[in-house]
Amino acid sequence: MSQPLVQLHNVKVHFSVRKGLFGSESVHAVDGVTLDIQAGEVVAVVGESGSGKTTLGRAALGLVKITDGHIRFGNIEITALSQKAQKRFRRKAQAIFQDPFASIDPFMMVYDSVAEPLVIHAIGSEQERRERVFQVLHDVRLRPPQEIAAKYPDLLSGGQRQRLSIARALVLQPQFIVADEPVSMVDASSRAELLALLRELQERFNIAFLYITHDIATARHFAQRIVVMYLGCVVEMGPAADVVHNPLHPYTQALIAAVPEPDPANRLCQRPSLPGEPPSPTNAPSGCSFHPRCAAFMAGRCELTTPQLHEVEPNHFVACYLHHAG
Ligand SMILES: Nc1ncnc2c1ncn2[C@@H]1O[C@H](COP(=O)(O)OP(=O)(O)OP(=O)(O)O)[C@@H](O)[C@H]1O
Ligand code: SF4
Ligand SMILES: [Mg+2]
Repeated sequence: MSQPLVQLHNVKVHFSVRKGLFGSESVHAVDGVTLDIQAGEVVAVVGESGSGKTTLGRAALGLVKITDGHIRFGNIEITALSQKAQKRFRRKAQAIFQDPFASIDPFMMVYDSVAEPLVIHAIGSEQERRERVFQVLHDVRLRPPQEIAAKYPDLLSGGQRQRLSIARALVLQPQFIVADEPVSMVDASSRAELLALLRELQERFNIAFLYITHDIATARHFAQRIVVMYLGCVVEMGPAADVVHNPLHPYTQALIAAVPEPDPANRLCQRPSLPGEPPSPTNAPSGCSFHPRCAAFMAGRCELTTPQLHEVEPNHFVACYLHHAG
């Protein structure tokens, strides 16, 4: 296999948060994640709220300082970049965020919004930028481009705004995009369409995606691989079809059992609801951190030491003593 495009090695992101007047405590948002993403590959990260998905995505883009570990993009270590090298990296790695209202400047015309990254990176002549902006608006189906380009975002629907965010991410021709719940805040009627658009663009331009979602069912359709996170750690990882049809970790099984709604238009906006609350990442349970909620808990083992990821089937890894021979 060729060299991965993105390599995360034992990445930790611990935040120090205030506790009481003088104290502080450490939130282990990401706690030792190792993950490779190949060029053109779509990897979905799923898990409940607070499992560390967004923090992992931000770390992969160099947007959050990591406490430990290494992140490489191609041959470069992104945690140690000069400002100039950071700028070069930004051209190749982009983000699409959840909230299209917060991520778009309401005072900028659509044209300027899409042209801005080209201006910042000093790409092309004015004429070339113009052509590129209209091309990208066309690609994300904001049509007719000339008409849409002259609008302000308040005239766009939520779905159209998210297309604008996609256009901004796409205009620099990135190799890697982190899409953090990109369809969860748009209305139900636009969701399937937006996902289909992302898929089409991903295939057409061979872009690697880290697709962050709480919805394992859409992950199955969009991604080649699924990574399941619990309390900052990867507990299962494998080919999307294997993880969904043959989930090995009791947490993944519970996430799938909690998919409540057969209609994808409705299902996409619902968060999985599992029995029990996820524990606080400031004070994770001992041993397997899922043990207080696990129906298969084995006393004398699961609460004592942390199970490590283990390749149980080809490319299908799980961190659970039910699947450890030793
Ligand atoms: N800047 C920060 N300072 C302190 N704690 C943070 C910070 N950012 C995230 N956290 C904490 O880190 C943990 C993981 O948060 P994160 O946003 O990565 O989870 P998530 O899986 O994306 O959740 P959601 O599905 O709700 O978006 C949470 O406990 C969160 O409160
Ligand atoms: S290691 Fe034990 S507690 Fe953890 S998921 Fe597996 S069976 Fe459940
Ligand atoms: Mg998040």
